[in-house]
Amino acid sequence: MTVDTTEARPIPTADWVTIPDLYADPYPIYQRLRAQAPIHWIPAVNRHLVIGYEACHAIELDQQRFSADEAQSLMKRSMGHSMLRKDDPEHDAERKAYGGVLRPKAIKQRWEAVFDRNYATYAARLRAAGPGADLVAEFAAPYAAENLRAILGFANATQQDLQRWSQTLIDGTGNYADDPDVWAAAERSSREVDEAIDEMLPALRAAPDGSLLSVLGTSGMPLDALRANVKMTIGGGLNEPRDALATTVWALLSHPEQLASVRAADRWSDAFEESIRWIAPISMYPREATRDTELCGMAIPRGARLGVAVGAANRDPAVFTDPEAYDVDRPRKPHLAFGGGNHFCAGAWIARASVVTIALPRLFTRFPGLRLAPSRPATVGGWVFRGVLSLPVHWD
Ligand code: HEM
Repeated sequence: MTVDTTEARPIPTADWVTIPDLYADPYPIYQRLRAQAPIHWIPAVNRHLVIGYEACHAIELDQQRFSADEAQSLMKRSMGHSMLRKDDPEHDAERKAYGGVLRPKAIKQRWEAVFDRNYATYAARLRAAGPGADLVAEFAAPYAAENLRAILGFANATQQDLQRWSQTLIDGTGNYADDPDVWAAAERSSREVDEAIDEMLPALRAAPDGSLLSVLGTSGMPLDALRANVKMTIGGGLNEPRDALATTVWALLSHPEQLASVRAADRWSDAFEESIRWIAPISMYPREATRDTELCGMAIPRGARLGVAVGAANRDPAVFTDPEAYDVDRPRKPHLAFGGGNHFCAGAWIARASVVTIALPRLFTRFPGLRLAPSRPATVGGWVFRGVLSLPVHWD
């Protein structure tokens, strides 16, 4: 399809936007940008930032015009070339190789019991840390890491390894400053993951256990693609459930009347979906224009590096009433926090099971009087990955 771009408006430049400001709080920036246009050139991040809901969603559904296979991708350098940076049919073949590992049947038959056990382990750790403990460091982070370790099948690694690998590989994908120390840490983790995979694969081929490594190891996927996909899943499967969980707890504790309503009717799912709309754990991901084209009346040049800012789209007032507010009662319109189209998050069921089915109801019943620490407010930060950084809590 050829799109006539002669009538399209040029994209405005927003040279006042800085990375530290985006990290601290991107939402006032999105509001100011939105008043002008749904797409802006942002020199500080070297991308055309797409902030409108309609524009983000159109990109997700059109891999012909907007490819996931970015030429200058830092993710490819940090983690290798995974399916997340491929278009169909190559992407589709690798996604199919994941089989049912992340899907509802395996979750019911296998992972829910694992999440339950891991909940008990890290709830005990939180309790032992005592009132005033940081719910992110003592519970959400190790819980998410231990869950992912089991799903992936790394019997030869610890949850601390998973946390270190995830953070350093993600730091590599965002290393726009080309910091050599960041590359060194990412490369070290990449080597460690390769070694752990090499050690596990023969054992899992001999005794398959339903983990992702076990399934991929017999799928015929070439080793370099297998390694890249496992690294991408380490990067994409840990911070996000951690942040979704901590953000939901923080939002509910900050809105006691909504917590009462959620608790009374077991509406943990509403609370979770609203919190990832409100603060999308992955707030921006890249695409590249394959041709000169037009989107929402704006001219996009071939090769343009796009930042699909779903964190902004999720607060688009054209779609969500009073979008800056956390409101579990808002009419359910689809948010874009899990992406869309062919790359729609493969771990969405896992995230919902570990956070909605297991962690939230247990935390709020087994820690009576759970509340924010009065003198130490929660800290929130991040742009590409955004969430609650620390959440000191008390309980009775
Ligand atoms: C609340 C938690 C989560 C959020 C908000 C989230 C968000 C996302 C988003 C936005 C994408 C698409 C990125 C793009 O199109 O460039 C994605 C893809 C993906 N996610 Fe998640 N994710 C979460 C949890 C998980 C978990 C727990 C796992 C694994 C256990 C996982 C595995 C994946 C994989 C494998 C992909 C690549 C899909 C593909 O390329 O087809 N995610 N996720």
